[in-house]
Amino acid sequence: MKDNFYITTPIYYPSAKPHMGHAYSSIVADFFARLKRIQGHKVFFLTGTDEHGQKIQRAAEKSNKDPLKFCDEISKTFRNLSSLLNLSNDDFIRTTEKRHASAVINLWNILEKKGEIYLSKYSGWYSVSDEAFYNEDEIEDLEGKKISKSSRSPVEWVEEESYFFKLSKWQEPLLKFYSENPKFILPESRKNEVISFVKSGLKDLSVSRKSFSWGIKVPSNKDHVIYVWLDALTNYLSALNYPKEKEKLYKDFWPANIHIIGKDILRFHAVYWPAFLLAAGIKPPQRVYGHGWILSGDEKMSKSKGNILDPIEIIDIYGLDALRYYLLKEVSFGNDGNISKEKLESCINSDLANNYGNLCQRVILFCEKNLGLKVPEYNFTKEDLKILNDFKENIENIEKQINDQNINYYVEYVVNQLFKANKYFNDQAPWTKKDDSLRLNTIVFVSLELIRKISILLYPIIPNTSLKVLNIFSIKEKDIKFDTISNNEYLKDKKEIIKLGILFEKIKK
Ligand code: MSP
Repeated sequence: MKDNFYITTPIYYPSAKPHMGHAYSSIVADFFARLKRIQGHKVFFLTGTDEHGQKIQRAAEKSNKDPLKFCDEISKTFRNLSSLLNLSNDDFIRTTEKRHASAVINLWNILEKKGEIYLSKYSGWYSVSDEAFYNEDEIEDLEGKKISKSSRSPVEWVEEESYFFKLSKWQEPLLKFYSENPKFILPESRKNEVISFVKSGLKDLSVSRKSFSWGIKVPSNKDHVIYVWLDALTNYLSALNYPKEKEKLYKDFWPANIHIIGKDILRFHAVYWPAFLLAAGIKPPQRVYGHGWILSGDEKMSKSKGNILDPIEIIDIYGLDALRYYLLKEVSFGNDGNISKEKLESCINSDLANNYGNLCQRVILFCEKNLGLKVPEYNFTKEDLKILNDFKENIENIEKQINDQNINYYVEYVVNQLFKANKYFNDQAPWTKKDDSLRLNTIVFVSLELIRKISILLYPIIPNTSLKVLNIFSIKEKDIKFDTISNNEYLKDKKEIIKLGILFEKIKK
């Protein structure tokens, strides 16, 4: 039995409608969830919305709405986006749900009981937009206003009674944890940033606010609302019914295998989160992967900058699989990436229409015209085996690369196989073999096997299209098994294939 696999996206602030950055985090997580499922792992894939805190309260006030009603509406748009992105999530959590509140309260009570939390007074800078506290050296002046150096969002001075978590005490245990778990933070470059931040000294963290009310109340002191990040991070536990630690769901999936997040929220996930968990005696997750930003030009896409490329509009024009393919292939995972309509169009034409679409069309049309869509007999030559066996020879390496989240290696491998398959069909030129029917048949059989293998590899990237193609072999979603890419004769028992329509229309420029 293979290990279980628990993967999460960040939970999104429903303060405004979803944008490309959100779509990116979700698509990446879905890619891994689907891949792990077809590899035979039992997967739990979680996404959701982060609905408490001052940022949401203010956004609700601005639209003259009760905060819960406001969240109900926008959370729905995130839920709809999950379907639109064809996410295979097993749950969608909202932090305004009861099951979540009881998990947060339980965690808080444990921390308080263990003496990890104390009451004092906070005075310092706070960014409502980031829901983060900043030290004096982390802010600067911009046109007379104070902003955070890292996020560029405005900060305001806060002075109020607050509960503090003894973060300073966890500096050394955290450093030890990082060194014992060298792949806890990926990519490597971000790990180094986190370690030097921790080494530079951790101050105790304010974990409650008193000046607004939208959140989960501190159980022992209802004047305080629990800090929204302590609240939000706990979603990863509450979706597993924490504190029911003896029950199957929790036992099956905690600790999480990986939290997929953007680099801007790494500190919360790689410093505060493991510190809270270690302090509460709960195992930290195994990995936190901080991906880069999707840029519009050279800037992060954000509402305040007004440079948002709307994922819904893009899907409407180009289709979902084109967007998924673009983001997974063209963004170097871990680094910032760029998206524009022009780039997306080139990618659709060259990779999806020309490379994949063309291969499928040509082979199937040829099979229809010459073999009446029958799966033919075959007798492999050395050359046939060479191209077919490439998958078997690389399967271990592909799996290893994927376990390090090397998405680009994976996509490049697939694209290469597509080129090779097209070249094989061209070079073998079955249309010249009309007087050697076994050879003609074999070339078609090999090409069909290549289409099948490649379509299986494409399933986590472009699930809808892959399923359309696999359907010609009557392979349904539940039948997709990653290791069948090693099999060169999977199709031998199939009698006929089903006709295939056009997969991707070329975009005229
Ligand atoms: N609510 C918190 C996360 C709590 S997780 C316990 C939050 N929400 S967010 O809606 O602001 O952002 C969610 C995710 O979207 C983050 O991982 C963030 O990095 C990502 N993105 C937001 N804008 C982005 C881009 N322009 N590009 C890529 N991802 C970015 O933070």
